Amino acid sequence: MSALEEVRREVRAARRVLVLTGAGMSAESGVPTFRGAQTGLWQRLDPRDLATPDAWEHDRERVWAWYLWRAALVRAVEPNAGHHALAALAEAKPVDVVTQNVDDLHERAGSRVTAHLHGSLFSYRCDTCGRPAPSPDLPAAPVERLAPPLCGCGEGWVRPGVVWFEEALPLDEWRAAEDAVLTLQRGDVVLVVGTSGVVYPAAGLPAMARSTGALVVEVNPQPTDVTDVCHLAVRASAAEALPALVD
Ligand code: OAD
Repeated sequence: MSALEEVRREVRAARRVLVLTGAGMSAESGVPTFRGAQTGLWQRLDPRDLATPDAWEHDRERVWAWYLWRAALVRAVEPNAGHHALAALAEAKPVDVVTQNVDDLHERAGSRVTAHLHGSLFSYRCDTCGRPAPSPDLPAAPVERLAPPLCGCGEGWVRPGVVWFEEALPLDEWRAAEDAVLTLQRGDVVLVVGTSGVVYPAAGLPAMARSTGALVVEVNPQPTDVTDVCHLAVRASAAEALPALVD
């Protein structure tokens, strides 16, 4: 029996399914991943210049322009067949989606997301008082620099509601993810889709899931740092594999 056939049977029999997603989940929608050999964002850009509190401190306009460009990019694309397959599965049984992605493609396909571990491209807050801020207009074309708005508190600037390197995960999102993982049981299935498994603490969730007795399956065209933690691997893309798995 192929891994795909075996996993399809397990998914059909499962009481609950937990899906842990990373950038590869949205790749076929046209959203670039971070570590792809040719197209990964971190192949041509240094995360220290764009995704750290230090970058925000030293060049806010560049960081703001980059995040607004990414938000505009996501606005212009659609969920793929993999996102739709997960939403359809949730009509048949309980499905938790825990994602590292800052896009909203799971929601737009109809999934309820249990946790956005790394925040969202579509939420904004003051970098000083923390108050939520309205969504800005998105630039029609990419720009190098753009000044972020000042917050009404007069003390800070509006920043993207994403998690940067060196920042803690939002506690409520992490707790929701941990709760979804730790309540798994033998017979439940975990699909680890499109993540390289290098960024912690999210990368620790597959091992935590395995310790519950659930079946842990990687869906990724390539082996990753979490492959060894998974019982099975389906070596295909999210948009190919997920519709076949939840058929
Ligand atoms: P990465 O870019 O590190 O990894 C993407 C993974 O998706 C790789 O393992 C690819 O093999 C796989 N992949 C590519 N195309 C795929 C497809 N069509 N279907 C399925 N898999 C595919 O992305 P993440 O693991 O999500 O954090 O990265 C984790 C975090 O690092 C991100 O959330 C972001 C980044 O820095 C922050 O910004 C805090």
